[in-house]
Amino acid sequence: MKGVLLHAGRGTRLAPLTRDIPKQLIPVANRPVSEYAVRDMRAAGITDIAVVVGEHGQKVSEYYGDGSRLGVNITYVRQDEPRGIAHAVGLCRGFVGDDRFVAYLGDNLTERGIAAHAARFERGPGAMALLCRVPDPSRYGIATLGPGGITKIVEKPAGPGSDLAVIGVYFMTPRVFDVIDSLEPSGRGELEITDALQRMLESGRLGHGFVEGWWRDAGTPAGVIEANRLVLGGGVRVGSSEVSGDTVLAGPVLVGDGCTIRSCVLGPNVSVVAGSALSGRSIRDSVVMAGSVLEGGPDVSGRIVSPRDAPNK
Ligand code: G1P
Repeated sequence: MKGVLLHAGRGTRLAPLTRDIPKQLIPVANRPVSEYAVRDMRAAGITDIAVVVGEHGQKVSEYYGDGSRLGVNITYVRQDEPRGIAHAVGLCRGFVGDDRFVAYLGDNLTERGIAAHAARFERGPGAMALLCRVPDPSRYGIATLGPGGITKIVEKPAGPGSDLAVIGVYFMTPRVFDVIDSLEPSGRGELEITDALQRMLESGRLGHGFVEGWWRDAGTPAGVIEANRLVLGGGVRVGSSEVSGDTVLAGPVLVGDGCTIRSCVLGPNVSVVAGSALSGRSIRDSVVMAGSVLEGGPDVSGRIVSPRDAPNK
């Protein structure tokens, strides 16, 4: 089986951070969100991975290179305009060839990975969607389930109905490429992966599985903060950084290397990436990106702090 990692898109819900980097490189517990997808694929035995990149493609290839650091072989595929997930998958036809593959959205995280699902799909039908119950169905692709399996898939339904989200991990066979060729852009001007799945369903080729453990879409600030909390889990871990004696670390807290932390209260649920300098601040439920500076000012809660921010904000 091969892998396709979706690493493009405008990331408007995470602007202005996404002016500088793609949303999938925003750190969760001090690793880019998309690295969890790469590790999940690797753990499922998938080592040939196409990474579909957009306008920040160079930042992505600078980070992942040829993939060897993570034990995978990466091929880069360029999507010139953000024209939807199905469009991005369609660009990988040549890479996929005759193999089965999994397309994994680079801003999706799963607690237990995909190995068990990948093993099941080796014997499955033309495509397999993974489902997870959510409190806010209007934000996702949603599946209706009947006794024989999925009966309908709709992208971001407005009204009430099913609360089973179709998560951003799609197991597929090359049959999907002909389906993608026949799609028309949706109301938001994109080729929707959910439309492709609906067509696979209509031709009797769509199976499903249920996510075990948690799943999060880290495509919004709240999603990033929540994913950070879940991945951190517990404890206090500090790399080779300077932490003053009057600093309180109330775990879960993770501090990378080369940071300076003076007179702060950090935690719970705080991660600080390498090279940041924090002083005189109380910070909780937040992600501090590499090289950020905070020097006194209001308490920080539920924020993604970046080097763009004024030190006293
Ligand atoms: C996309 C898909 C949607 C899916 C979601 C999962 O939504 O279109 O079907 O449920 O990812 O994260 P988007 O993040 O592009 O709005």
